[in-house]
Amino acid sequence: MDRQQRVAAGRYLVTGGAGFIGSNFVRHIRRTFPEAQVTVLDKLTYAGNPANLAEFEGTPGYRFVRGDIADRDLVAEIVAGGFDWILNFAAETHVDRSIGDPGEFVITDVYGVHVLLEAVRAHGVGRFVQISTDEVYGEILGDPVDERAPLMPRNPYAASKAGGDRLAYAYHTTYDLPVVITRCANNYGPYQYPEKLISLFATNALDDERLPVYGSGKNRRDWIHVQDHVEALVALLLADGVDGEVFNIGAGNEKDVLAIAGHILAALEKPETLIAHVVDRPGHDRRYAVDFSKLTARTGWQPRMPFAEGILETVRWYQEHGPWWRPLKSGEFLEFYRRNYKFLDAAAEGGEGS
Ligand code: NAD
Ligand code: DAU
Repeated sequence: MDRQQRVAAGRYLVTGGAGFIGSNFVRHIRRTFPEAQVTVLDKLTYAGNPANLAEFEGTPGYRFVRGDIADRDLVAEIVAGGFDWILNFAAETHVDRSIGDPGEFVITDVYGVHVLLEAVRAHGVGRFVQISTDEVYGEILGDPVDERAPLMPRNPYAASKAGGDRLAYAYHTTYDLPVVITRCANNYGPYQYPEKLISLFATNALDDERLPVYGSGKNRRDWIHVQDHVEALVALLLADGVDGEVFNIGAGNEKDVLAIAGHILAALEKPETLIAHVVDRPGHDRRYAVDFSKLTARTGWQPRMPFAEGILETVRWYQEHGPWWRPLKSGEFLEFYRRNYKFLDAAAEGGEGS
């Protein structure tokens, strides 16, 4: 099979496939390449949700394995089955949770990557894609940075991801494994666990709950629709001569938190009085901004979703999928929510999340 055929009809191992981006990737592959075979390996942490993949259960060429990427025996057994593509989405991903409790981040985002790479070293793969993050560069206050910029992660999540990112690179340089590393900007879209900015604010606004803005609300991120992200990953699978390389992925949609809140409230015709300032995130990175021109030059990929359209479509999705997200905003989520947010307007305290 040539590369194109291996993308269209090959064997995929998608770790963390029950999460937000992983499940959007699986959906894209299943719809675009019906002959491809997809195995998902996911531990189903609080962020992993079988409902995200329910439509594929029992369909030919699809297999779900519940398990941990840090489980050496299980990972070795699965990888020994032989894959054209392994994409590692599995991670602890929420910065605020990493500030409260970094341990799991080190185990999954560093050690788990090591376990996967060891299995690949033993059994081989067509290409291993380590899904890293633009957070590994730390906060960027000047021009958008390219892939040669130093890594200066500033929170336990970002530092753990930097460890996984560099381990993957080391397995390329040391053992010649076919590894590609991607560093993407902030994703938004359907099936995002409602703890991240856009999914939290959209679901809170739908329930007339306050939108908790850290500090000034002036912190900036580049927002990419998840569909653009998964298409970038496919473009990288199709590309020749990229092993051992790092690719930034972004969209050029830089917005601050208050602007995002404004878009969501306007889409739902809700009042700006729902915005509530809360005590800032410790070490809150003021801005991320990556130059993704290398990816465009090497693959022709470009982001396609205009932010104004993507955010409207996303808010509508959460509006129409209450049965998907409402059960998630209960139990442990509410405990985390109450622990994490300190509302500056004392009168608002106690009412949130209830
Ligand atoms: P998510 O939190 O929605 O999903 C993570 C998934 O990984 C869940 O299904 C979870 O059950 C699974 N998982 C966690 N620990 C595991 C383990 N030890 N073994 C197996 N499975 C495990 O995350 P997401 O937002 O979809 O992010 C996916 C990847 O993309 C992560 O590696 C993240 O660092 C990276 N990333 C995310 C963004 C973003 O904006 N969301 C941006 C850039 C990079
Ligand atoms: O940049 C890529 C990264 O983006 C990914 O690697 C991470 O997995 C992902 O979680 C995300 O990290 P951020 O910290 O940038 O995303 P988050 O949605 O948590 O926050 C985005 C911005 O919004 C940030 O400035 C903090 C602010 N914020 C966030 C939340 C959840 C608030 O003001 N209030 C909130 O309640």
